[in-house]
Amino acid sequence: MINKCLFPVAGYGTRFLPATKSMPKEMLPVVNKPLVQYGVEEAIAAGMNQMAFVTGRGKRAITDHFDISYELEHQIAGSAKEGYLTSIRGVLDQATFTMTRQREMKGLGHAILTGETLIGNEPFGVVLSDDLCINAGDSVMAQMVNLYKQFRCSIVAIQEVPQDQTEKYGVISGEALKEGLYRVDDMVEKPKPEDAPSNLAIIGRYILTPDIFDILRDTPPGKGGEVQLTDALLTQAKNGCVMAYQFEGSRFDCGSVDGFVEATNHVYQHIYKA
Ligand code: UTP
Repeated sequence: MINKCLFPVAGYGTRFLPATKSMPKEMLPVVNKPLVQYGVEEAIAAGMNQMAFVTGRGKRAITDHFDISYELEHQIAGSAKEGYLTSIRGVLDQATFTMTRQREMKGLGHAILTGETLIGNEPFGVVLSDDLCINAGDSVMAQMVNLYKQFRCSIVAIQEVPQDQTEKYGVISGEALKEGLYRVDDMVEKPKPEDAPSNLAIIGRYILTPDIFDILRDTPPGKGGEVQLTDALLTQAKNGCVMAYQFEGSRFDCGSVDGFVEATNHVYQHIYKA
C-alpha cells in the first residue's frame, strides 16, 4: 500500500553540540542502536521497504550504516560477536536505501521537497528519527498506514502537550471524528501559548500524499525564514483533507537532551534488559 518512507536527516542538530559537530545526531545511540535505525525498523514494521534519506554535509555515517561493512563482517564471521550484527543485517535484508542531498538547510518543508526525486508520485511515510516512538502493539507508522487505507489523505501524528510548550511544535485544531482522530481545519507552526489553536502538537510521523510536492513548491518561507511543512499541510487541509491522529504509544523527543536521556532509560529498562 505505502512502500516508501522519507527520512529528512539534513538538520544540524545544534542542541546536541558538541556531540553533533562531526557526527549526525541521527546516529546518536539510544543504548546500542542509532536513532535512525529505530525509525527504519518502525517503517519496515509498517510494511514499507524503500527508505529514502534526505541527507546533508557531514551525514555520511548514515549512508555507511545502511550498507555492508565487509571488513567487519569478515573479522567477526563465525565468532560469538556475530550476534551483535543481527538487527542491522535484518534491516538491510528487508529494505532498499536511497539518498539525496539537501544542499542548503531551508527547513523541513524544503527537505521534503528535496526528497521528491526519491519518492515520485505516490503516497509516502515521513519519519523524523529524532522523535523516537515506542509501542508494544502496532508501531505508530503501522497505525497510520491503517488509517490511510480508510481516508486516503495526508495524516499527521499528534500528541497533547502542556500549553506552555506549544512554541516547540506545529499545533492543529480540527473537528473530532472520534476519540483521538481529527479532520484538521487549522495548523500553526510554533505558536505562542496564547495564540495556539489547541494543545495538540504534531510530532515527527506523517503520511503524505504526493500533491504535497506541488504545494511545497508554492509555499513561501514561513516561521524562521524556513519553508514549513506545517504551512503546506494547512493548504492541503483547506483544499481537501488532512487527518490528525493521536497515536497509541510513547514518544521521546530525542532532539533534546532531556528527551534523549528519558528514551535511553526507557529502552534500557523495558527493551534492552527485558
Ligand atoms: P529540527 O529543527 O528538529 O532538527 O528539524 P535540527 O535542525 O537538526 O536540530 P536543532 O534544532 O538544530 O537541534 C526536524 C527534522 O527535520 C530535519 C532535521 O534533520 C530533523 O530530523 N531537517 C530540518 C532537514 O532535514 N532539513 C532542514 O533544513 C531542516
